[in-house]
Amino acid sequence: MSDAIIRDLEDIGQHRLADVLRGLPPPPADRLAMQVASLDLRLVARLVDELVRTPVAAHPSGLTPAEVDRLPVDGAGRARRRLAVEAGEQALREGRVAVVLLAGGQGTRLGFDHPKGMFPIGPVSNATLFEVHAAGVGATRRRYGCDLPWYLMTSDANDAPTRQFLDGHGLFGLSPGSVTTFIQGMLPTVDRGTGDILREAPDRLALSPDGHGGIFRALGRAAILGDLEERGIDTIMTFQVDNPLMRPADPGFIGAHLLAHSEMSTLVVSKVTPEERMGVMATVDGRPALVEYSDLPGDLHGARDDCGDLVFWAGSTGVHCLDRAFATRLATGQVPLPFHGAGKRVPTPEDPAPAHPNAVTFEAFMFDALPLAERTAAVEMERAERFAPVKNAEGPDSPATCRAAIVERSARWLDQAGICVPRGAGGASQHPIEIDPRFAQGAPDLDGRLPADLVVDGPLLLRG
Ligand code: UTP
Repeated sequence: MSDAIIRDLEDIGQHRLADVLRGLPPPPADRLAMQVASLDLRLVARLVDELVRTPVAAHPSGLTPAEVDRLPVDGAGRARRRLAVEAGEQALREGRVAVVLLAGGQGTRLGFDHPKGMFPIGPVSNATLFEVHAAGVGATRRRYGCDLPWYLMTSDANDAPTRQFLDGHGLFGLSPGSVTTFIQGMLPTVDRGTGDILREAPDRLALSPDGHGGIFRALGRAAILGDLEERGIDTIMTFQVDNPLMRPADPGFIGAHLLAHSEMSTLVVSKVTPEERMGVMATVDGRPALVEYSDLPGDLHGARDDCGDLVFWAGSTGVHCLDRAFATRLATGQVPLPFHGAGKRVPTPEDPAPAHPNAVTFEAFMFDALPLAERTAAVEMERAERFAPVKNAEGPDSPATCRAAIVERSARWLDQAGICVPRGAGGASQHPIEIDPRFAQGAPDLDGRLPADLVVDGPLLLRG
C-alpha cells in the first residue's frame, strides 16, 4: 500500500512526507500510510495551493448592512412574529424538524479538559451544557408531540467521551435511538512556509477538525440527510453547544425561516458595543454574508447611521436553520464551501515546542454557506432571551457572564409571572434562580405552574 500512497503524495507535491514514508520501517510506515490513505489528497493539494503557497488576504468589499427581520416594535410586527411562531409550531407538530448541536470544537479558549458540553453551567443545579440542551429537546418533543431527532456533531477528539457521558446519564431521559452522534472530518495541518503535511509523531499525522462548516460533508458521510428525507424532515436547526440560552427547535425562528421560503437562515442579536468581538451579518457585493469581527474594516465597527444606531449591529449567534435540500447540495459538494487557513503552533517530531505558529490548519465555516443559498433570512431575537455563550475562562462570554444571564432571564420570567424577585445593586437578582427547560421554556409557560406561596428568599431551582 505504501508505494501507491507515496506516488499519490508525489503527484500533489508532498515530497517530504513521501520521503518520510520511504524511510520508515514497515509497521510505522503502514500506520502512517493508512492515515494518508484516509485523506482527500486532491482537496489537500487545493488548500495548500490556495491558502498556503499563494494566499490572498481578501478583505470583503462592497459592504452594506444586512436586511434583517427585526424584533417587532408595533402591532403589525408582533402579528408577523405570531404567524412565524404558528408556522414553526405546525412544522414541529408535523414532525418536519430535526436539530443538530455543534459540539465538535476544541474549546481552546475555555481551557476545559473535557468536551465543552460537559461543562457545568446551571447556576443552581450545576447542570452541564449537554443536560440543558437535552432538557430543551425533551421539553420540545413533549410540547409538540413530535420525534424531533437530535444529532450531535462531535470530532475524533471528543466523540468517545461525549458518547460515554450521554450514555452514562441515560441520555438525560431521552429515548435511545432519538439521539445520534456523528463525527466531523479531520484535515491535515501543513508547514506554514512550505505547505508540507506535518506529523505530530513519527507514525502519526498532525490532524485538526475541519471546522463547523464540516457539518455538511459529515452529515452526508453519516447518511443522515437521506434518513431525514425518508422521514419527511425538511428543516434542520443547528445550534452551538456553548449557548445554554438557546432554545432547541425555536418555533419562532423556524417559522420565520419557513415563511421566508429561505434555504438558510441565521439568528442574530444586537451587538452590545462596537468592540464586541462578534461576526456581523452584512451584504457583501450584493449577497448576504456573515463577516467575521477581524474581517470588518476598523472604521466600520463603530459606523453609525443618521439615528446614531450601529450600522453593523446584527451579531451572529451561530444558530442556523437549513432547508434539507440545500444542506444536501452542500454535502455532495454541488455547492462547495470555501476553506480558511489559520496559523497555529503544532508540535512535530522535528520541533516539539514551536515558539511561533509553524503550521496552517484548515477550517470551513458554516456561515459561509449563507451567500451560496438562493434565499436567506436573518432573524433578530432578543439577546437576553437567547444568547449568552461560554467561550472564555474569564471576562466576557465566560461561565460567570453566562450564569448571570441565566439568572437574569429566570428572574425576568418570574417578574412577568407576578413574583417579586428581590434585586440588589445594579438591579441584579439577589439570589441565584434557575428554571429548567423541562419546567418552562419562556415566561408564558409559568402561567399556572408556580406555587401560590412562592417567595424568592434564597437560591431557587424550578425543574419539572
Ligand atoms: P467556536 O468557534 O467558538 O470554537 O465554536 P470552540 O472550539 O468552541 O472554542 P475555541 O475557539 O477553540 O476556543 C462554535 C461552535 O462550533 C462548534 C463548537 O463546538 C461550538 O459549538 N465547532 C467548532 C465544531 O463543532 N467543530 C469545529 O471544528 C469547530
